[in-house]
Amino acid sequence: MKKVFHVVIAVAALAAAVPAMAQFQKPEDAVKYRQSSFFVMAQHFGRLGAMASGKAPFDAKAAADNASVVEAMSKLPWAGFMANTESVKSGAKPEMWTEKAKFDQGAEKLQAEASKLAAAAKMGNLDALKTAFADTAGTCKACHDNYKAK
Ligand code: HEC
Repeated sequence: MKKVFHVVIAVAALAAAVPAMAQFQKPEDAVKYRQSSFFVMAQHFGRLGAMASGKAPFDAKAAADNASVVEAMSKLPWAGFMANTESVKSGAKPEMWTEKAKFDQGAEKLQAEASKLAAAAKMGNLDALKTAFADTAGTCKACHDNYKAK
């Protein structure tokens, strides 16, 4: 009984901690968080790109590992685009805020393609990886063209 009680407390504490994770001490932290998430995602995405383009030898295990990091990271940057970060200097174009619904659609598109990329990478097939990589890269470019400063 005592054990069950402890589990209940632990779960309740976890549930309470989740909304707090989406908050930041200050707007600058939110910006740093989203930029860092993009940075890490891009590192792993680049390793897949090297394999897809033949610059690096295809390694099925490495491809699957990198793609699952990309998939996980693709979910993170968005929490950092909070309204109170609009005035913080960053690589986000002002249009991002006036076209937030379109921006959010782009974020969802990336997450959907990153999931397909992770699934394709697990197949251990270079052609499947190439296709999924190109589809995912298309979502990066579409959003950057509109909403990321050069
Ligand atoms: C829905 C829009 C959107 C999508 C999709 C998107 N990005 Fe970005 N990305 C941005 C914006 C906006 C910034 C600028 C963020 C800032 O400076 O606060 C950015 C910044 C970056 C940065 C710079 C981070 C830094 O160090 O400051 C990298 C690298 C990056 N993105 C890579 C990618 C890659 C790779 C993909 C696809 C796999 C991708 N992004 C998909 C909107 C997007």
